[in-house]
Amino acid sequence: MNDYVLQWLSLIVRWFHFTAGIAWIGASFYFVWLDDNLNRALPDAQRRRGMEGELWSVHGGGFYHNEKYRTGPVDEPLPRDLHWFYWEAYSTWLSGIAMLAIVYWAGASTFLIDKDVLALTVPEAIAISIASLVAGWFVYDALCRIFEKNPVVLWTAIGLFLLFADWGLFHVFGPRAAFIHVGSIIGTIMVWNVFFVIIPGQRRMLAQIRAGETPNPRPGLLGKQRSVHNTYFTLPVLFIMISNHYPMTYSGPNGWLVLAGLSVAGVLVRRFYVLTHFKRMIIALPVAAVVIVVAIAVAIAPHPSTSAAAGAPTFATIAPIVAERCAVCHSAHPTYAGISAPPAGVLLDSPAHIVANAAQIRTQAVTTRAMPLGNATHITDTERATLGAWIDAGAKAP
Ligand code: HEC
Repeated sequence: MNDYVLQWLSLIVRWFHFTAGIAWIGASFYFVWLDDNLNRALPDAQRRRGMEGELWSVHGGGFYHNEKYRTGPVDEPLPRDLHWFYWEAYSTWLSGIAMLAIVYWAGASTFLIDKDVLALTVPEAIAISIASLVAGWFVYDALCRIFEKNPVVLWTAIGLFLLFADWGLFHVFGPRAAFIHVGSIIGTIMVWNVFFVIIPGQRRMLAQIRAGETPNPRPGLLGKQRSVHNTYFTLPVLFIMISNHYPMTYSGPNGWLVLAGLSVAGVLVRRFYVLTHFKRMIIALPVAAVVIVVAIAVAIAPHPSTSAAAGAPTFATIAPIVAERCAVCHSAHPTYAGISAPPAGVLLDSPAHIVANAAQIRTQAVTTRAMPLGNATHITDTERATLGAWIDAGAKAP
């Protein structure tokens, strides 16, 4: 497809994707908060009506009164127009898959495949991409069934499985694509939890309540288990979704460990907030998260460039490197197949542009090695070091 059309599709779908994601996670955080904050010390009369808790709140020009009934009010039927919350989740997932297709499948040879990692063909890479999402769900779902009764063992098993997926994907795709796939696996698990477990369980309970039967509480309990998982998955997924703006996180040799560490930090922060709903402030949780983030930041900090080049390289030395390895994409009229406009608006096609972007060149091509994408233009380590030495020496043009 024409790259220009693809860019527009990408813009529209991404815009939709994060709007839907905000609606989904917003509603999900709200209901976790609501459930945790219910006043459960109710008078007997309300208890007899089947009420479990209530909550008053004020928002945007009015007062709201929520009442929770685990299986509906005892003395009156459930109203016909019951509001459900699932399209937020489904549309986030559908638009996320569309993003995966637009960026990573349509652009597989640049964004998905990294020949230095594994020399995949485009169909192979796309097949692995799809299979990873489906397999991720089946393994997770099986773990939930096997270890249903033991949350600690279950969490450990899920964590180890995701760590394995993370490590494995790093040995299959380019690092940036590996990150996005770990996020897509977790996001798929979250949405399929809603689609395959939470909503069907609620429909079953509702049908029993409407038929006047005593509902079987089991689907509700299983749904609750999956909702709890979803709430802790949220921060890791959101980090992964923005990670491609931060190549320092994914581009090092241990990118998969960075992903794991930052995800643990995200889970700890979410745990802290969930506990505050119960008036428990465990400061150790965010402190541990900060320690993890700082430790990772220190561990992957770039070393001052150890350039082998004797003396500072001149502009004449680096110009051909940039022209050959970068400007095929980063020019006003890119010649690289599938790129129709300078990516990210970065131009590296004239001395002035190269000097103006020197700091960015160092970040992308020397310290993090995120560029050239998938090393499409086969830059060598010596060339990277030469670029770094030229920038260290002041990035001077003739
Ligand atoms: C195969 C095409 C291609 C080549 C070759 C290439 N880039 Fe890029 N570059 C891209 C794309 C695509 C993006 C936008 C990535 C994104 O969507 O986040 C990008 C983004 C960038 C950015 C902006 C990053 C940001 O997030 O702000 C910089 C800086 C950059 N490239 C520098 C370089 C340098 C330096 C080289 C040569 C060593 C290079 N690129 C080679 C395709 C390329």
